[in-house]
Amino acid sequence: MSNDKIWKSNSTFILAAAGSAVGLGNIWKFPYMVGSNGGSAFVLVYLLCILIIGLPIMASEILIGKYGRKSPINSLKKISLDFNLKRHWKYLGVIGAFAGVLILSYYSVFAGIAFSYMFNIFPPGLENPSNYSTEYFSNIAASPLKLIFWHSVFMIITCMIVGYGVIKGIGRSVSLLMPILFLFIVLVAIYSSLIGDINKTMIFLFNPDFSALTPKVIISAMGQAFFSLSIGMGAIMAYGAYIPEKQLIGKTVFLIIILDTFVALIAGIAIFPIVFNNVDLSINAGPSLIFETLPVAFYSLPYGSIFSIIFFILLSIAALSSAISLLEPFTAWMEERLKFKRKIIVFVLGISIWVIGLGSIFSFNLWSEVKIMGFTFLSGLDYLTNNIMLPVGGFFIALLVGWYLPRNLIKKELGTNESYLKSFFFCLKYVSPGSILLIFLYSIFQ
Ligand code: PFF
Repeated sequence: MSNDKIWKSNSTFILAAAGSAVGLGNIWKFPYMVGSNGGSAFVLVYLLCILIIGLPIMASEILIGKYGRKSPINSLKKISLDFNLKRHWKYLGVIGAFAGVLILSYYSVFAGIAFSYMFNIFPPGLENPSNYSTEYFSNIAASPLKLIFWHSVFMIITCMIVGYGVIKGIGRSVSLLMPILFLFIVLVAIYSSLIGDINKTMIFLFNPDFSALTPKVIISAMGQAFFSLSIGMGAIMAYGAYIPEKQLIGKTVFLIIILDTFVALIAGIAIFPIVFNNVDLSINAGPSLIFETLPVAFYSLPYGSIFSIIFFILLSIAALSSAISLLEPFTAWMEERLKFKRKIIVFVLGISIWVIGLGSIFSFNLWSEVKIMGFTFLSGLDYLTNNIMLPVGGFFIALLVGWYLPRNLIKKELGTNESYLKSFFFCLKYVSPGSILLIFLYSIFQ
């Protein structure tokens, strides 16, 4: 990747990073993870993980990217050379690139479903829209052909954007459309609170219930924090390579994290009031939750189908801007290594990801009974990437920056006051890697 590939104004990095971070993870995944993991206990651990693990690791990734000014693997290589470290650190980037490809394979399946919902207009006069909605999703999920069609559409668009290197173009559209998406979600949340059960929602999300804290809840909340912030695999590192020299990392990271967390919580507030108000909808629905719930909310709104179309267009664009950052690290690495044309690399990668995605599609239907250790292909891949690969990546990033890089470099780049700096170092050296390790051990031995 060369520096001229990305636009360079001060807000550029924030927009690019927010474009990567805010996506299906916030709007689709966070609510259903909360729903299937006991509500407030999950939210509490999630918020804690964002603060004590996510923040320091995100800052570290940006720092490595900014220092190296190259693709994640080569930035890591440069750092190990410059500071006389072992060359093995670059493998962090390699694992991350693979994680991105694996995540994209199922991300694309759900983004495809979001695409298809742009065309899901409920017929007027339905007696039971909730029933209609759950049946509509079941029909899509039961049809491999429909899922393959939409998965293909999403992969083709993602590959075209990454292949042509038109990240600039998407950057511009994201900067326009993201604020509209935020506004939209806030409006939907207000509307849902008015027509649904907001009291129950608030208790479910925010009234701590420690009895629900299980190893599964804790490791899932940590995995979700990594996934939602796009950290642990080099996506944010890749964007860090383009951050203007003068931009300070400390403040920037805060902004991205607040934005990302805000969107996730608001998505929860948009969805749960409807679920609690509706006997036909279930908080335990899993990945289908938003697809079954939001259309019901829109249905009761005047001009609801127009809102529904706009919402799913915006969601699809948010998914696209995240998908690009999932594909970019592997593409950049291959481009530097193989010296093939970018388009050819993306073509081959795209086909491979598409094929892996078929496994996730069949997990809904043809292979739904095929399980290894209780996991379907899709849930296994999700667990492997979010709960293992991303946290392991984050663990080593924290070790690298916390223990091996000069303190002065970090101090200069963060640009924050002394007391913030002290807590930052403490988190990075001990709390972040320590918590990741503890959560792993806890989930293995419980
Ligand atoms: N953070 C994205 C989301 O919330 O949808 C997903 C994602 C993008 C995960 C990029 C990891 C990543 F590197």
